[in-house]
Amino acid sequence: MRKLVIALGSVVALNSMAVFAADEDAAVGLLRKSKCLNCHAVESKKDGPAYREVAAKYRGKAEAEDKLTKHITVPNKVKIDGREEPHQMVKSKDPEEIRNLVSWILSL
Ligand code: HEC
Repeated sequence: MRKLVIALGSVVALNSMAVFAADEDAAVGLLRKSKCLNCHAVESKKDGPAYREVAAKYRGKAEAEDKLTKHITVPNKVKIDGREEPHQMVKSKDPEEIRNLVSWILSL
């Protein structure tokens, strides 16, 4: 029984590692390169919402990854101080790199 519990414990540990395996350095590097940090921070609201707030808003929503990926890859408008402006596109064409960024934001 003890052995079974230990085995189950390590399966759970491995699974949660897979979910949170987003590469933070790569994600932040891409944010810097794409100038996202001009308007966003992890903890605090600037012109755009804090990434931690975005993660909270989408927690448990199945469409989260898809929605955020579109938001940073398909041209769309956001309101800043009452003015409509195009939202910044991510400076990458590599789907893996973009997916890593989106999962990292959602894991905050
Ligand atoms: C010029 C300022 C500005 C820049 C630069 C910018 N954003 Fe935003 N972003 C905003 C604003 C404003 C919103 C809020 C939009 C809304 O709630 O309608 C937003 C919203 C978001 C959201 C939440 C979308 C949602 O559905 O809730 C994400 C994720 C995001 N931005 C990611 C990024 C990424 C990644 C970059 C860099 C590629 C970036 N932003 C660059 C202003 C900016």
